[in-house]
Order: sequence, then structure tokens, then C-alpha cells
Amino acid sequence: SGHPQFTGKKIVITAGPTREKIDPVRYITNHSSGKMGYAIAEEAVNTGAEVILISGPVSIDVPSGVTLIQVESAEEMYQAVMDEYESADIVIKTAAVADYRPKISFDHKVKKQPGEQSLELERTKDILLELGKLKNRQILIGFAAETDHLVEYAQKKLEKKNADMIVANNVKADGAGFGTDTNIVTLFKKDGAFIELPLMSKKAVAVKILEEASNLLRNENR
Ligand code: PMT
Repeated sequence: SGHPQFTGKKIVITAGPTREKIDPVRYITNHSSGKMGYAIAEEAVNTGAEVILISGPVSIDVPSGVTLIQVESAEEMYQAVMDEYESADIVIKTAAVADYRPKISFDHKVKKQPGEQSLELERTKDILLELGKLKNRQILIGFAAETDHLVEYAQKKLEKKNADMIVANNVKADGAGFGTDTNIVTLFKKDGAFIELPLMSKKAVAVKILEEASNLLRNENR
């Protein structure tokens, strides 16, 4: 299929974890390093696209040519994505967004007490689901981080979220998922086709995802 060319197109990528505040010194997060999303952003610049990277807190340098929008919480990520969505041609949701946040976040440090303590959680917004509902001409690509039933869950996600493609990774497999420089992914497309890729660098996975995005965009414009 050759190297995708996205000159004049706008690609929005989310990356990294979110942080859900408990109090000024504590938060809930996950193991996302941002490597997968930043690799996609770096490769996307090479296609000639305008690249917007909406990132949770990570310690990776922003690739040159990328416009970085830094966020912390799932709610902030939701707002930032919504602001960019209308004018986007391709949206790739690599971020590991918290599904729950503390129901109350304190503006003072919570003092420890004798005995047990419990933390009440509430759901965050499902950004991918909202994007799927609002979709008009955008190509919408989600990720699925699973430990079991990968195929079944990824196919369900594709349908439920109205996505054009789901990139599924088994985060329990060696060399895949969080923190590594490599990944093992399967690309599930809405026509039912799927592409199982071997262990690859996250950069090479990024190129594959952009190639498929290019095919999807071409079919959409036909
Ligand atoms: O950052 P790295 O260390 O390189 O690790 C890469 C990765 C493992 C984080 C990445 O490859 C990956 O799998 N990202 C998605 C992680 C995830 O949250 O998966 P999920 O199955 O919980 O969510 C499915 C999809 O819905 C994702 O596209 C996610 O961005 C999106 N989502 C989830 C929750 C939520 N409230 N809003 C969302 O939009």
C-alpha cells in the first residue's frame, strides 16, 4: 500500500495515562508510558499531516512538528478531544483513560485515621463512545487493552463504539502493552477483516496503523 500521504489532513492522537485526583498529594492512574501514542504522532508527522497530540502526564519529549496539548484527568482529555474533533480527519485514541475517578476530590490532604478507609468512585465519560456518536466524516480508531478474550472484546468494542478500527493488544503478553518499546497488536476493521501483526517496535506498529487509516480514508471518500 506504500507510505501514506496525509498532506492537508488533520490527525488527532491521544496518548498516555490520565490522573484522577484524590487530594493534593494522591491520585489514581495506570501504567501507560505514552510510548505507543508518541510513536504514532512521530510517524504521522512524516505523512505530511497536521498532528495534534493530546497527552496525559508522561516523560517523553514531544516529537518535532507535533502540536502538544497536555491534560491530566479524563475530563480534561474529553474536553481537549472534543475541541479538536470537528476539524479532525483521523482520530487515534491510544490513551489509557481512567474509567473511574474519586467521587469527591479533596482540596486538602486527607489525614490518615485508625482503621480501614474506602474510596468511592464514579464513572468518567467514555470519550471513544461519545466520538462514535458524533462521528460524521472522521476516521475513528480506538485501542483495546485486554488481558483475556481479546478477539471477542475487541470486536464488541468496534461495534459498540462505532469505530472504524480497533487496535487490540494483549497487555499480559511479553513485549506488548504498557511501557515497552515493542507491541503485539491485531487490527480489527469494521468490515470484519482483521490483521494479526507479530512482535514489532511501536514505531513499526504506528506505520501499520497509519497505512490502514489511509485505506479507511480512501474508502470513505470514494
Ligand atoms: O503508553 P504505552 O506504555 O506505550 O502503552 C500503550 C497502551 C497499552 C496504553 C496502548 O497500546 C493501549 O492499549 N491503549 C488503550 C488503553 C485502554 O485504556 O484501553 P481500554 O480497553 O480501557 O479502552 C478502549 C478504548 O477506549 C481506548 O481507545 C481508550 O482510549 C478509550 N477510552 C477508554 C475509557 C474512557 N473513559 N474513554 C475512552 O475514550
